[in-house]
Amino acid sequence: MTRILTLRRPDDWHIHLRDGAALLSLVPAAARQFARAIVMPNLRPPVTTVEAALAYRREILAAVPPGSTFDPLMTLYLTDNTTPEEVARASRSPFVHAIKYYPAGATTNSESGVTAIERASPALEAMERHGLPLLMHGEVTDPGVDIFDRERVFLDTVLEPLRARFPGLRIVLEHITTAEAAAYVTEASGEIAATLTAQHLLLNRNAIFDGGIRPHAYCLPVLKRETHRVALVEAATSGNPRFFLGTDSAPHSRANKESGCGHAGVYSAHAAIELYAEAFEAAGALERLEGFASLHGPRFYGLAPNEARVTLERVDWTVPASYPMADATVVPLRAGQTLHWRLV
Ligand code: NCD
Ligand code: ZN
Repeated sequence: MTRILTLRRPDDWHIHLRDGAALLSLVPAAARQFARAIVMPNLRPPVTTVEAALAYRREILAAVPPGSTFDPLMTLYLTDNTTPEEVARASRSPFVHAIKYYPAGATTNSESGVTAIERASPALEAMERHGLPLLMHGEVTDPGVDIFDRERVFLDTVLEPLRARFPGLRIVLEHITTAEAAAYVTEASGEIAATLTAQHLLLNRNAIFDGGIRPHAYCLPVLKRETHRVALVEAATSGNPRFFLGTDSAPHSRANKESGCGHAGVYSAHAAIELYAEAFEAAGALERLEGFASLHGPRFYGLAPNEARVTLERVDWTVPASYPMADATVVPLRAGQTLHWRLV
């Protein structure tokens, strides 16, 4: 059995770092393992301009612990009113790497998101021209569509028509959760990729209802049934460079999760690379982890892979029941349970 695993230092291509005092716990957790991370812009108010992204970047950098390196790769939040001029500014900035699409109302802080994708056409046309990737939260928001079907319906009703209109648009389908999305990304022509979270590789939807309602296993897109989890593991471990690591680590305070209307989001940055190692080991594909975690993402984003290496050892440790976050606490994925890999 493999006991020591050395990889190029990984990157996280989808993370929520929040802002304010929370940065002081969330940035060190990410920087412990990841050299870079694509930082989601769903703050209040959302990060809609290059100027706001640069200010947010400075705030993140101020929270990087002395002695560690961490490069936040910034994104803008697409709205109905994003202008081609702002897209051009973003494409010229060395610090802004993509624009994020949230369907209005789909998830946490998505109220300012796109109400109908046609409204964003001028921005999308500019992104296609400048080669700036569009990162998509791929779910429809129609309350008439079953929550477990919202990603699958999105592929046919939003993504496919969008790609027909903008065939040169570079797209990352974020945090995919279904066999259909994995097949779509595998088979599609053009520049398309997908990120996969640790929780969608490790858990199926039974985890949300395990002996009672489990708010800490609730995220969006919601966990799906086992057949989908198996298909996602297959995609992640296939070696196909279109699939790469994006934790979607999305912390909410314990009080906001354990509530009559608990917020969506799973916190996984405390042990992300260890959790992925567990999923890859279970699939007998540890040798494919480096491609997924450290090589495919930089290749899509046109960046060099990291030169530094990290080492994981196979040793049992217990995840704390919670971590501090600003003046609250956050309950991490696998709280109080044993993990089998540990970053040295
Ligand atoms: C994210 C959050 O909390 O910001 N929540 C989640 O469940 N993934 C928003 C998002 O990425 O959908
Ligand atoms: Zn997210």
